[in-house]
Amino acid sequence: MGRIITVVSGKGGVGKSTVALNAAAAMAGHHKRKVVLVDLNLTTPHLAAMTGIGAKAKVLEDVVMGKAGLAEALSEHESGLKVLASSISPRKFSMAELGRIGPVLRELKKTHDDVIIDCGPGLGSEALLAMRYGDQLLYVATPTVPSLMDVIRCRKMVTNLGKQELGLVLNMAARGEAQLSAAQAAAMAEVPVLCTIPHDKAVPKSLAAEKATIYYDYYAPSSQEFLRLGAHLSGQPFTPKTRGFIARLASIIQGK
Ligand SMILES: Nc1ncnc2c1ncn2[C@@H]1O[C@H](COP(=O)(O)OP(=O)(O)O)[C@@H](O)[C@H]1O
Ligand SMILES: [Mg+2]
Repeated sequence: MGRIITVVSGKGGVGKSTVALNAAAAMAGHHKRKVVLVDLNLTTPHLAAMTGIGAKAKVLEDVVMGKAGLAEALSEHESGLKVLASSISPRKFSMAELGRIGPVLRELKKTHDDVIIDCGPGLGSEALLAMRYGDQLLYVATPTVPSLMDVIRCRKMVTNLGKQELGLVLNMAARGEAQLSAAQAAAMAEVPVLCTIPHDKAVPKSLAAEKATIYYDYYAPSSQEFLRLGAHLSGQPFTPKTRGFIARLASIIQGK
């Protein structure tokens, strides 16, 4: 039986989907874990677009409406990761359909080591649902006070739910900006900081290429931190790698 990790932040646009996709891809591709990434950002889902899953592919909505089997709706990522995307055309779930998500997740947990849930923005009913399904919570924030305040709000909401808190990922850290340090963020949110991902142009470039950043540019500074996170979540050691001469030359030629 696997575990469910919900990636949550409260604030939108801090990098939940980016972190969830890259961590999941690192766990599957580099640590050979059986991982499935589930888009529970039901109202504004992004994982299909981020991974190049076409509009005709079967998705979570098809499964809960009984229009597709679960196996049929799992798209394969180049890392070996499975992605259960959500429909790109907005649609409201009925209460009965929402209730069918739990059994889908339980089924996935039986057949995978890790079920990673990408959560929607805000702390409304949709995010709460995703947090309730998680056995473990992974917080994502930018190193700024408003973003960390949302993590504190999240933590308050889940205190009675008995969830294991894995820690905090600081994303879009920029040198020279008036941002909090990892130590300050950890002290403020009262959770350990697992990694600090720099603001990196490789991330939007990989998004445009419909690839996980670690598969777009393995040596990019953000990729190395995503890989650190993937190793940590897989219980494996990690040594960062830097571009050698040939890889540097290749990246200049490819304009990365
Ligand atoms: N480390 C980073 N460096 C640069 N851009 C980033 C980084 N992380 C995320 N982004 C960009 O920020 C935007 C929001 O990221 P996203 O993962 O969609 O956030 P969320 O899921 O929390 O709404 C996207 O355009 C993404 O490409
Ligand atoms: Mg998102």
